[in-house]
Amino acid sequence: MNIPDIIIAVDGYSSTGKSTFAKMVAREFDFLYLDSGAMYRGVAFCAMEAGLAREDATFDEPALKALLPSLDLHFRRTDGATKLYLGERCIETEIRTLNVSNYASPVSALPFVRHFVDDRLHAFAADGRVIMDGRDIGTTVFPDAQVKIFMTAEPAERARRRYEELIAKGENVTLEEVGKSLAERDYRDSHRETSPLRRADDAYVLDNTHMTLHEELVWMLGLLQGKFGLLESPGLSW
Ligand code: DC
Repeated sequence: MNIPDIIIAVDGYSSTGKSTFAKMVAREFDFLYLDSGAMYRGVAFCAMEAGLAREDATFDEPALKALLPSLDLHFRRTDGATKLYLGERCIETEIRTLNVSNYASPVSALPFVRHFVDDRLHAFAADGRVIMDGRDIGTTVFPDAQVKIFMTAEPAERARRRYEELIAKGENVTLEEVGKSLAERDYRDSHRETSPLRRADDAYVLDNTHMTLHEELVWMLGLLQGKFGLLESPGLSW
């Protein structure tokens, strides 16, 4: 399907399946997928490794501010997947633990961290034809994105999905812990002062509580066809 070189912003609550959805759309329509949350996770991970993250989820802010310019955090595309690197080290696995998730949310509330990440996201999306997911892509990072989607799903369903993901990775967590962590992150992400999570006025809402991936893709296809006046009905790849 002939979709123009646009930016697609996908925002929403934690564990609503934003990255699965965005990756699928990227593959289907040949877009570059960028995961903005990975950058915040990367910063949290580096802060933790440098001993700058405290148990109460606060940070040694002056030291973190001084550390940021030296962090070579970047995305690399390998085997069709985009992964986060710190210099030559792939840290994609390290940044996906529950512990890093719990620090990523408070670190992302620091304005100087948001500034650092926004700069990098703009640089990586400079060539366009990008689908990026996060919390403030349609509101702050790319307010002019031509297509904005806001994803949501019922909290119990999100906790179940996340729990299964973590268990499959061998993490020792309970469903209750995961549900609590999600609720705390959602609250923090939507109540912070700088770029809080909220639906952009012109974003389309996708509630996927009871949807299969294929149904999500068909929904997206309908949206793109309507938006760009594409009347042909291309076959989806699956
Ligand atoms: O999408 P994620 O769970 O990987 O994101 C990790 C954290 O980063 C999340 O708690 C909120 C923050 N984040 C953000 O504040 N803004 C974004 N655009 C993306 C993520």
